[in-house]
Amino acid sequence: MAPDSGTQSAVHSMVDGKTTPLFTLPARWYHDPAIYEAERWGIFAATWQFIGHVSDLPAPGDYVGAKIAGFRVFVLRDREGRLKAFHNVCPHRAAPLVGDGKGHCDVLQCRYHRWTFDHDGKLKVAPHFGEADWFNKEEHGLKPVRVDVWRGLIFVNIDGKAKPLVEFLGDVPALVEAYEMESFTKTDTADFSMDSNWKTYTDNFVEGYHIPGIHPGLIQAIDFNGFETTYQRNVIIMKAPQKSGSIYSGLWLWIWPNMTLSIFPDGMNTSRIVPHGTRSTSLHYSFYFRDASPEKEASRQSTIKTNCDIVREDFGICDESQDNLEAGIYKRGPLSPKHELGVRYFHDEVRAGLKTQGISE
Ligand code: FES
Ligand SMILES: [Fe+2]
Repeated sequence: MAPDSGTQSAVHSMVDGKTTPLFTLPARWYHDPAIYEAERWGIFAATWQFIGHVSDLPAPGDYVGAKIAGFRVFVLRDREGRLKAFHNVCPHRAAPLVGDGKGHCDVLQCRYHRWTFDHDGKLKVAPHFGEADWFNKEEHGLKPVRVDVWRGLIFVNIDGKAKPLVEFLGDVPALVEAYEMESFTKTDTADFSMDSNWKTYTDNFVEGYHIPGIHPGLIQAIDFNGFETTYQRNVIIMKAPQKSGSIYSGLWLWIWPNMTLSIFPDGMNTSRIVPHGTRSTSLHYSFYFRDASPEKEASRQSTIKTNCDIVREDFGICDESQDNLEAGIYKRGPLSPKHELGVRYFHDEVRAGLKTQGISE
């Protein structure tokens, strides 16, 4: 896991009367397959990964599956109502056991050759396998994954070595303490995919510098001169004074390494920014509202549409910047000390994650 590094003063530290220059990560890190492979282990396996909400799997046998940087995992509610997580990889010949997203299974059975597992991951039956004195079912159960829940949000930690979840979340729990997240109902989801590296998109998410250029509607709703980006332990906080009451009137957070959480007086949204290769990224939004009644459906859909329209506006510029990151002309660029300290913070965490895999600039 990346350390809880980064303070405003560290970024602004003075050397010989001048502030330290701020530059982006090298362009190569946005497309080199070796960097992506190191990120899989040094960042995505090593951190707590948000995977779903407790309301996604209310009953025994319900599950949520996800593919995170190539790692297929799923969380299952067992017969006693506890959450269990496993690698979604059959120990026979590696087929996935369940699909991505929400589902239900009374019996955990691989569809390839019908091996059947208990909810605790033990192999129960390997049908038609034949007699083999060397084959011990005990040795071929599902590989468990660490799972924990914070305020209704479910996280998994693939390498099992991250700090306890609440500690990992750094200053996030304190920042959202006053919001009644548990009173919100998850009502909708929206999925997107883009042809950018996950960091190209994240760089975009953690700065408001691009709002005048890319978000013509949003710039009307906020006072751009008052837009503020700060960071604390494992979280970047964005705030914009409102010109009129709008969906951005609450707390707008990005949480290391790939989750976002925006809380408003009437609800919240979460998202996961998930890499599937050097330039394939998916985005999975969930929307939660205090009032989930049918009478409020139109107003909820209008909030969701406004959100999703703004999200989509970023994809074109990210994909085109990704082309240029790969083309070999651009090497790295300077970061604005006024608007891009969030980008700097994110990059420092990436540097720390990759360092654990022996990679540095
Ligand atoms: S791969 Fe699952 S039973 Fe063969
Ligand atoms: Fe944007």
